[in-house]
Amino acid sequence: MSSSRRHILTAPAWPYANGPRHIGHVSGFALPCDMFSRYQRMAGNEVLMVSGTDEHGTPIQVQADKEGVTARGLADRYNRVIAEDLRRLGMSYDLFTRTTTRNHYEVVQELFLGLLKNGYIFPTTTMGAISPSTGRTLPDRYIEGTCPICGYDGARGDQCENCGNQLDPIDLINPVSRINGEKPKFVETEHFMLDLPAFTETLGSYLQAKQGEWRPNVLKFSLNLLGELQPRTITRDLDWGVPIPLDEWRDQANKRIYVWFDAVIGYLSASIEWAKRSGDPNAWRAWWQNDAADSYYFMGKDNIVFHSVIWPAILSGYSGRGARNGASGPLGALGLPTEIVSSEYLTMEGRKFSSSRQVVIYVRDFLDRYDVDALRYYVAVAGPENQDTDFTWAEFVRRNNDELVAAWGNLVNRSLSFAAKNIGAIPPAGELTDVDRAVLDGSRKAFAAVGAELERSRFKNAAHEALRTVAEANKYLSDQAPWKLRDSDPERMKTILHVALQLVDDAKSLLTPFLPSSSQKVYDMLGGTGVWSGMPRLETVSEPGGADYPVLTGSYDTEARWESRPIKVGTPLAPPKPLFAKLDTSVIDEELARLEAISGDPAKGTT
Ligand code: MF3
Ligand code: ZN
Repeated sequence: MSSSRRHILTAPAWPYANGPRHIGHVSGFALPCDMFSRYQRMAGNEVLMVSGTDEHGTPIQVQADKEGVTARGLADRYNRVIAEDLRRLGMSYDLFTRTTTRNHYEVVQELFLGLLKNGYIFPTTTMGAISPSTGRTLPDRYIEGTCPICGYDGARGDQCENCGNQLDPIDLINPVSRINGEKPKFVETEHFMLDLPAFTETLGSYLQAKQGEWRPNVLKFSLNLLGELQPRTITRDLDWGVPIPLDEWRDQANKRIYVWFDAVIGYLSASIEWAKRSGDPNAWRAWWQNDAADSYYFMGKDNIVFHSVIWPAILSGYSGRGARNGASGPLGALGLPTEIVSSEYLTMEGRKFSSSRQVVIYVRDFLDRYDVDALRYYVAVAGPENQDTDFTWAEFVRRNNDELVAAWGNLVNRSLSFAAKNIGAIPPAGELTDVDRAVLDGSRKAFAAVGAELERSRFKNAAHEALRTVAEANKYLSDQAPWKLRDSDPERMKTILHVALQLVDDAKSLLTPFLPSSSQKVYDMLGGTGVWSGMPRLETVSEPGGADYPVLTGSYDTEARWESRPIKVGTPLAPPKPLFAKLDTSVIDEELARLEAISGDPAKGTT
């Protein structure tokens, strides 16, 4: 029967611990995943949402060098900052951890060894850079040159910041050392490769079966990659990362596992860490070794290849499912992603978000000035779901004022304050008219309609459908005008108010995935007890034999259900407080001026 609870892993991408998050980041990997997860929990499914900070590799090293601190020190600092950003956004992680835990190292090394045993990882000799003047290895991040793909001048040895392509230092045109400007010398160096061509068939049938299910852009991009799969180097000349778990390699200070190989394994290691912390060390298996379980991964589009090709290849290879077959290791046969949900890019007032150029609004600054639900709502209705999308302050203010305040906030306010003032409690309904029945029916049916959109991660459609019920409720109240019946027909007035309050209660449920904080307030105002929207907590945990670190976790098994529930007649009602703050349009100019002040100064550099 379809009534049994599905196991659903929800997996938001792991933010690099190299700076605070801005709203461009969180509109891609974070908020859509939280909306999806909250809906799935309300629908009665067993959701496990895990992630953490991505703390290895060049992105961390480069920033650490810039700030003059160690990679470890930088990761410690930004892990905290990011966890706090995500907590304030209401991200309902079961566990938000980090990639520098002992547990993560063990799981990454286990997968590496399993793939090696099955023949999907093999050693190779490639050309690595050394400094001719010192004879020492020159890590990838210290090499710069022209991108062979797009011609951009400042491409780094590992990746081109301009076109986003992954590079090998030897492919750079005119490579130079960023330390002293000399031309690196390329000499033979040992590395390991993941044999991606051995998964062409496995991945082909996997992806073909996703036709009509994934967003077309994501599937097309992924299928295109299959035509030209090459083995990929999964170790690096780098001193910051997971050590290679083999005797002659473990202690080489300048050989580490490539950050992307380690990071994607985080979804599995974090599930295992969650299970250990929850007291049932095997609990993770219900999401990973269960053909009936589903998994949904959320990210920005620059992450697609790692999730739709490399991660499924790693999982398949470890499970013995590739051209070389093989057996699965002690972690068992692991399930592939059900869906890769990728967003496009958000731009900011017509420009690319850029922390270095200060074209940016950080999550913490945003939330210091505006309501978290105003941001969540904006991302749902105007986020980069299917195409690159511009964030503008004018649009933010308009959506906040016209949609949140004037439509939803006003519905709550006028129905509750009228009922509180004139009756003081939820009134009983007398006989219903056809109009009453029709509007209640529409509201009940909205659960299936909005749910179907959320099930497919169509957040815009889902939010529009939910807002449509708000519009109908507002229209119902205006048409029925209970305030005119106070003396002439108080019984009918009560019935209208009962219907209106039921519509408010339904709408708050329909809006909960988008607006968890304000939905909790409406739940409270209508006499609800206990927690409706579970919120994450920041906790400190200790590493066995190691340092303490912060995690986000929470209990999300709440009163919230994805259905219309009859309101309770007689529940006392107090006059409501406004749900959302109306924003003065002067906010637009203030924010634009702020942006100009920090980004417009040419002395700050424009690369
Ligand atoms: N840190 C990467 C980024 O911010 C995302 C890593 S997702 C993971 O783009 F799955 F690999 F962890
Ligand atoms: Zn490029």
